Amino acid sequence: MNEIVRVLIDEAAISGAVKRLGAKISEDYAPCGARTPPIFIGVLKGSFVFMADLIRALSIPCEVDFLTAKSYGLNSETSGAVQIVKDIDADVKGRDVIIVEDILESANTLYRVCEILRGREPRSLKVCVFLDKDAGRKIPLAADYKCFDVGGGFVVGYGLDYAEQYRYLPYLAEVNIK
Ligand code: IMP
Ligand code: MG
Repeated sequence: MNEIVRVLIDEAAISGAVKRLGAKISEDYAPCGARTPPIFIGVLKGSFVFMADLIRALSIPCEVDFLTAKSYGLNSETSGAVQIVKDIDADVKGRDVIIVEDILESANTLYRVCEILRGREPRSLKVCVFLDKDAGRKIPLAADYKCFDVGGGFVVGYGLDYAEQYRYLPYLAEVNIK
């Protein structure tokens, strides 16, 4: 097991930030009124905890779907082609889509996922992330919605893993992966 170095963001701070973000998104999408509600598309697996809390912080109707994307390339993390290996069930044509991701780093994965979904002609497409790790950006993609900015260290918990471990932690921690 790797050692948890320190708690970066505790449960109370996460809860407050997610509630504020839910209120903001609700405000932004309220004018949609009677139109088909926005659909939140979570990128598995990391987004599932954030998604669960985020949708319960909304005061507007919504739909939820999930996809799994895999990147293939020179190194396992970021470079190369991205393929959707588990697709959403919904038809997003003409819909307001909000992609939900745990953390935006290089943006390689999310950039391609956005391209693929845009090809399906949604009415609008926005990106909502729990964390923004700006220092690792390789493609200039900005999140429309985010809870926190984080530095360069490797973080786990609240859905984020290291080798599939630590997703269950209710707080965000920095883990020493060396
Ligand atoms: P990228 O934006 O294409 O580099 O990919 C971001 C993905 O890398 C996230 O969805 C995570 O799965 C993973 N990732 C990046 N940084 C971290 C981290 O600090 N902890 C856990 N997963 C991370
Ligand atoms: Mg992920």
